[in-house]
Amino acid sequence: MPEPLLEICNLTKMYEEQKILENINLKIVQGEVVVIVGPSGCGKSTLLRCINALEPIQKGEIKLDGEEIEAGRKNLAALREKIGMVFQNYELFPHLTVLDNLMLAPLKVQKRQKEEVRAEAMELLGRVGLSEKAGSYPRQLSGGQKQRVAIVRALCMHPEILLFDEVTAALDPEMVREVLDVMLDLAKQGRTMIIVTHEMQFAKAVADRIVFIDDGHIVEESSPETFFECPKSGRAKQFLNIFTFERV
Ligand SMILES: Nc1ncnc2c1ncn2[C@@H]1O[C@H](COP(=O)(O)OP(=O)(O)OP(=O)(O)O)[C@@H](O)[C@H]1O
Ligand SMILES: [Mg+2]
Repeated sequence: MPEPLLEICNLTKMYEEQKILENINLKIVQGEVVVIVGPSGCGKSTLLRCINALEPIQKGEIKLDGEEIEAGRKNLAALREKIGMVFQNYELFPHLTVLDNLMLAPLKVQKRQKEEVRAEAMELLGRVGLSEKAGSYPRQLSGGQKQRVAIVRALCMHPEILLFDEVTAALDPEMVREVLDVMLDLAKQGRTMIIVTHEMQFAKAVADRIVFIDDGHIVEESSPETFFECPKSGRAKQFLNIFTFERV
C-alpha cells in the first residue's frame, strides 16, 4: 500500500455542544477517487470543510503529504494551495472575465508568470469546451458553463487533491451531464478527488471507493459494486431506497 496523500485520523468535529462528525478515519492515496454519500445533514460538507481547514476540529488530525492541516497553522496557506475546492455555487467574481477569474489566484497568490498562466488557463478552458468564453463575464454563462469554469479555476492552482461538494446540485438536468463529464475526465487523468454527490449513477461510474456517512459516522466503506449491489448496513440500504421507485 503506497503512503496516503490524505490521512484523516480520529477526527471529531463539534459545533458548540453538538458532535457533527465523530471518530472519522479515512486514507486516500494518490490517484484515488472517493465518493462520499449519505443523507442530508450527515456531515458531508462539514468533512470537506475540515479537510480544507475552513473549520477548526476538536479532536484528531488531518494530514496532507504527511503535513498536518490545522486552522491557524503557519504553513496553512501553502497547504491550502494543494487543495482545490469546488462548491455548489461557483463563486466567480462577477466583475472579471472568465480568463481573469482563472488567472487571478495563480498571479496574485502563486506569483506566477502571466503568459504561462494565460496559456495554461486557455488550454484547460479548451479541454472543457469553453475556449470561446474566455472573454465573457460570468453573467453571460449558463450554470453548467460557470461550474466548468469553477473547476478549471481550481485546476489552474495545480492542486494535489480536488474536493467537490455537490457541484451539480443547482444545475438543470442537461447541464449536470456536461459537468459530470468533466469530472469523469479528471478521474481518467488520474487526479485524486473526493466527491460529495447525490448522483448515484455517476458515483458508481467514477468512484474507486464509496464512503457512506450517516449521522456523523462512516458507516460503510466499499467498492461501488459492493455498495450499490449489496450494501452491508441497514442504513445504507434504506438510503439507497430513496433513489428507486416502484411502478404505480
Ligand atoms: N455553521 C454551523 N453551525 C452549527 N451547525 C452546523 C453548521 N454547519 C452545519 N451544521 C450542522 O452540521 C450538520 C452537518 O451539516 P452538513 O452541511 O455537513 O451536512 P451535509 O451532509 O453536507 O448535508 P446536505 O446533503 O444537505 O448538504 C447538520 O446538522 C447541520 O445543521
Ligand atoms: Mg452538504
